[in-house]
Amino acid sequence: MSINEEKLNQLEQLQEEIKLGGGEKRIEIQHGKGKLTARERLNILLDEDSFEEFDKLVLLAGTEYNAEKVQAEAVVTGWGTIEGRPCYVFSQDFTVVGGSLSKPMGDKVIKIMDLALKNGVPVIGLNDGGGARIQEGVDSLASYGEIFLRNVLSSGVVPQISVVLGPAAGGAVYSPALTDFVFMSKASYMYVTGPDVVKTVTGEDVTHEELGGAMTHANRSGVCHFAIEGEEECLQEVRRLFSFLPLNNMEEPPIMETGDDPARRDEDLLHVLPDDVGRPYDMRELVYRIVDAGDLMEVHEHFAQNIIVGFARMMGKTVGIVGNQPLYNAGVLDIDSSRKGARFVRFCDAFNIPIITLVDVPGYLPGTSQEYGGIINHGAKLVYAYAEATVPKITIIIRKATGGAYDAMGSKHLRADVNLAWPTAEIAVMGPDAAVNIINRAELARAKNIDKTRAKLVAEYKRQFANPYVAASRGFIDDVIDPRETRPRIIRALKMLESKNDQMPPKKHGNLPL
Ligand code: HXC
Repeated sequence: MSINEEKLNQLEQLQEEIKLGGGEKRIEIQHGKGKLTARERLNILLDEDSFEEFDKLVLLAGTEYNAEKVQAEAVVTGWGTIEGRPCYVFSQDFTVVGGSLSKPMGDKVIKIMDLALKNGVPVIGLNDGGGARIQEGVDSLASYGEIFLRNVLSSGVVPQISVVLGPAAGGAVYSPALTDFVFMSKASYMYVTGPDVVKTVTGEDVTHEELGGAMTHANRSGVCHFAIEGEEECLQEVRRLFSFLPLNNMEEPPIMETGDDPARRDEDLLHVLPDDVGRPYDMRELVYRIVDAGDLMEVHEHFAQNIIVGFARMMGKTVGIVGNQPLYNAGVLDIDSSRKGARFVRFCDAFNIPIITLVDVPGYLPGTSQEYGGIINHGAKLVYAYAEATVPKITIIIRKATGGAYDAMGSKHLRADVNLAWPTAEIAVMGPDAAVNIINRAELARAKNIDKTRAKLVAEYKRQFANPYVAASRGFIDDVIDPRETRPRIIRALKMLESKNDQMPPKKHGNLPL
């Protein structure tokens, strides 16, 4: 039997109807809110004509093909490429029942997540929906559970990226939370319960944006890694992030030719640090001068700004950068910066990305709010993350490396591979003033001129401890280097470590202090 025109027309018509999602009127409303449709978003995210759809013909729960007009379920799924490299995608369609999750819709998402895990290919989810479809009851909750399970099984095997471009309420927040990176656009918001419920339960008056907008999660909760105003720009940044990541945990990170000379010295590195050790400077300046072409993709840019984390390239290959940021709270380690640093280090370790750590840290932050908030446990996360990481680890102490923070920030003692210091490094148990107050208490009490005596004792302490040479004499620092040589020295170390093979002892899993 030949396939006649009527059959082909029928298929074409079906495809056209399905493509319209919730219909033209609802697409207009979506555009009116400044939002793109599920398919328009995929067109921006993926390489031109690379999208191949799965399950296009899954109909809206409760509808059938014999109806006058068919309607698709509230998600578009499939796979495509970004700069020629594959990824699986799902894109929720708000025009269909507000993008809420039904069982058939969940099944579509689950199908691509299973394929992603089997084939070692990342998943990118575009979220814009009202959470569990209320009229579906437990079937919807079951679908969420099945998605969460796959998020967890895939964690550390393939990179998972969530992009929130509209509401993500209730169950819809936990899948993004289980993924590696969360992007949010200006029009998006995420919360477990919305402003109405908040008002009823706690009496607080709060807007959608205040409660769960992109900036709320970017700088307060830390749920959002990238807050980007427009949808198009947001999706372009997802492409940029993708370019740094390997497809799975068995792959090396991709190499992109940057044209930057691996042997490049930088004279200006002699002038980044202010003469006064108490004055701040921007650690980013240093990073830009060291990495290929000054290109750093910061993660969590607005959160815990006292630490910088992000992706860059050296010899064209992805590296993870962790650096204390003296510009904010003197670069101190606190609860949020420890969490931020630890999460990033663990991602890099899971995906074979070498870690370069730039240290200038005055210690862990003292105070009741930190202690009551659990700085002991949160601070320990950073120690744990560095200690368990088996990827190449290179650490440069720029200025201060004080107290427990010296140990935490990629020290030799947590099995870093190459530890270097600038001649400006000061490695000590605590800062000179606090130290002198403790170890010279009696002498200070007896002193006739306390200021003069203190100044003398501080100078002596600095001479004895605040330098890199004691650590170098113990072998805790492999070398004290000319700052201008920082880039070529790191690159030589990366080359030397290309064959690194380190392991954790056999175990089911460790018990990270959560
Ligand atoms: C069914 C839903 C829906 C939902 C939205 N719609 N959310 N239908 N289940 N969860 C429908 C609306 O009825 C409406 O249909 C259409 O989608 C568009 O929604 P609007 O409300 O008109 O849009 P908007 O004003 O932009 O508001 C968006 C919204 C709001 C903020 C997301 O719709 C909302 O608050 N929805 C409910 C959010 C929520 O509480 N979800 C359940 C969470 S519980 P019509 O036909 O009228 O246009 C949960 C538990 C899971 O998720 C736990 C798993 C662990």
